[in-house]
Amino acid sequence: MLSTAQIRNFCIIAHIDHGKSTLADRMLEITGTVEKRKMREQFLDMHPLERERGITIKMTPVSMTYRSHFDRRITQNETRNNAEQEGFLYEDLTYKIRGILFKVRKNIGLGHKEQVYHNALEIEFENAGLKFESKKNISILYDGRSIGTYQPDFVIENKVLVELKALPEIARPQIEQLWSYLKGCDYKLALLVNFGSKDLEIKRIVYDTARNFSALSGSFLRNSASSQRESAGAEDQIENKEFILNLIDTPGHIDFNYEVSRALAAVEGAVLLVDATQGVEAQTISNVELAKGLKLKIIPVVNKIDLPQARIKETKEEIKNLLGVSEGEILEVSAKTGDGVEELLEEIVERVPPPKNADFTQKVAEQGQRNSASSLRESAANARALIFDFEYSLHRGVIAHVRIFGGEIKSGDRLKLFQAGSVFSAGEVGVFRPELSPTEILHAGEIGYVVTGVKEAKVVRVGDTIANFQFPISNFQPLPGYKEVKPVVFSSLYPEKQDKFEDLKKALERLKLIDSALFFEEESSGVMGRGFRCGFLGMLHLEIVAERLRRDFNVGVIAATPTVKYRVVTKRGEEADVYSPSRFPEDGEIKEILEPWIVFEILMPPERMPAVLKLLGDHEAVVGETSKFSEARVKLNGEMPLRELMRDFFDELKSVSAGYASLNYELADYRPADLLRLDILVAEEVEPAFSKIVPRFRLQREAEAVVEKLCGVLPRALFVLKIQARAAGRILASRTLRALSKDVTGHLYGGDRSRKMKLWKKQKEGKKRLRSRADYNIPPDVFLKIIRK
Ligand code: GTP
Repeated sequence: MLSTAQIRNFCIIAHIDHGKSTLADRMLEITGTVEKRKMREQFLDMHPLERERGITIKMTPVSMTYRSHFDRRITQNETRNNAEQEGFLYEDLTYKIRGILFKVRKNIGLGHKEQVYHNALEIEFENAGLKFESKKNISILYDGRSIGTYQPDFVIENKVLVELKALPEIARPQIEQLWSYLKGCDYKLALLVNFGSKDLEIKRIVYDTARNFSALSGSFLRNSASSQRESAGAEDQIENKEFILNLIDTPGHIDFNYEVSRALAAVEGAVLLVDATQGVEAQTISNVELAKGLKLKIIPVVNKIDLPQARIKETKEEIKNLLGVSEGEILEVSAKTGDGVEELLEEIVERVPPPKNADFTQKVAEQGQRNSASSLRESAANARALIFDFEYSLHRGVIAHVRIFGGEIKSGDRLKLFQAGSVFSAGEVGVFRPELSPTEILHAGEIGYVVTGVKEAKVVRVGDTIANFQFPISNFQPLPGYKEVKPVVFSSLYPEKQDKFEDLKKALERLKLIDSALFFEEESSGVMGRGFRCGFLGMLHLEIVAERLRRDFNVGVIAATPTVKYRVVTKRGEEADVYSPSRFPEDGEIKEILEPWIVFEILMPPERMPAVLKLLGDHEAVVGETSKFSEARVKLNGEMPLRELMRDFFDELKSVSAGYASLNYELADYRPADLLRLDILVAEEVEPAFSKIVPRFRLQREAEAVVEKLCGVLPRALFVLKIQARAAGRILASRTLRALSKDVTGHLYGGDRSRKMKLWKKQKEGKKRLRSRADYNIPPDVFLKIIRK
């Protein structure tokens, strides 16, 4: 079993489409988590909808086993010197050198002589602009006097010595030799690099460990029996270079930001991925703020470096400004070709701290008492796990996705959900590979799953803590959970056929189990029948839910025009939250309306500013400050009604900025608004699902636009179909769709014309009868098309 020190929990965070899932693919490949023949693009996007649309909508955890190529024995054990404890000695420079070492190894492969690697490195150090000396003579001092010289392969920036080897493996003599050199000279850091082994080996040797023998517990240089035992222990550590990398892939779209914040609370590190063709975008910034708020170690990475239009230098500048890091800390990868991904894995192991809060279990393990029955009982009693997500299985109930923060959980343990107060027995426990893979025990620091067997909806909630059922409540500090997420956009969903109402209800309940941000309540609307008023995190969330209901649960739905939540005060003094346009009072009855506003931030190239400002004007935005974000980007702050954001603002922003502007927003406050309800009549009957709330000044334009659009998407009927828009008792726009002509006389060949006349007359009467009954069914997909614009 691996110790907690060998676990790294991290997320990949980025703006949408910057390549998170593709990077995760490469990691799955390199670590051999997914067999090559089973590999497909964006592997962790498991839902067919995610794959079709190329977006991640759900976070996915995966546990990978990684064998590191880097010996971190000296930097990780207690022999760290002072400089190392304050930080990584020559951190930037080391990252740069390591990047070059990996590059050379990758480019020229295994099996060359030392000199060949030396020559290639010279070229690469030069290309990277590093100052270096080859074969410099360094004095070896003894008793203050020079007793000879040593020539390392390279001295980089007069700080780091690099000693090259091309041996099947590095053994003790080579390490000892370099130790001795370092001990006798003025340098502080040496890298022993072996190009000859299967995996590139890099050993980092720091001056204190070389000079201060007392600090070397398990030193190779001591010979007593007891120290031999110690040194054997130390060597075991060197050999055991396996790490468990628990990755949680997160969605990039702002609607699913909630998923990101949940995932971040379960890990210690975040790989911040920035597309080199796009640079830092608004969501990059908001994700960084989330990660910083949780004090995670952030590893900045520039992606898509294979593309000719990649602006690597500019992107690094932006990242430097955003994070306050030095250039050497920023890695470069191509998630597509795999370039740099292996180095990134090394850096994750190196920079992300092992899990915190690994309490009792770990201490017990350290004391070598792991198998004693009493300690096991105690660590089980200490169990504390944060539920960061869950899924539902028909047979096994809720399967909680957890991060164990203390103690351990195993199958059969009696546990309780701290907030819900319910007790259950853990069924299976296990880890994600990425499919559910049972294990015996989940230890502190690990990420995995617990089958709860709980079948009722609403009991298991994300953010709740799972604890041992005997743990006294008074002693118990629940883990910080999550803020309850609030929907921002509402739409009524009706089953396509009324007899499917119960199916829709069940489907929504199920969906809620895997999508805790979904809100719904029953409602009935005369013509549309019974349905549900649903709340979503944004328009994409709405579309995804409607699609999932149809695909995963086989329940087609009609979705009413989405709206935000308004506060309406009527002239009779009644106050109500209205989030259904069909319930919005008539204009004459309203005294005051308040609507939600957002504050936003847009990042864009300066030349896109005029087009973006015009768009903001069209969306009633109040533009605030503009500031320089980087050489190529300006940042603009402002406010606008949430209603206007939902009016396709995202897509329009992308289009006027040719994809270069990005937006991030937060809900602000409620402000007065001048709005009224626009009703749409199809075949002279109000169709409540099409009703919408519009600002008075745009009423006429909006009325014409909806009617026009409906004309384009409604199928023609056998009779003339009238489509009208009406507000405050007035018809504002009207169009008719021509009747479908059906050739009722086609089967008659020649003969008496009066027979044809008779059939035409009958058809005319039939159409009249149909129209009077308004016998026209709007196909369900029209509702979604209208929402989509
Ligand atoms: P969301 O989950 O929807 O936020 O997207 P994502 O960040 O997971 O991005 P995804 O991995 O789906 O990649 C988006 C697109 O960029 C896909 O078409 C990828 O093939 C492409 N892509 C990702 N990384 C690279 C890269 O390094 N080079 C190139 N050329 N294309 C890349």
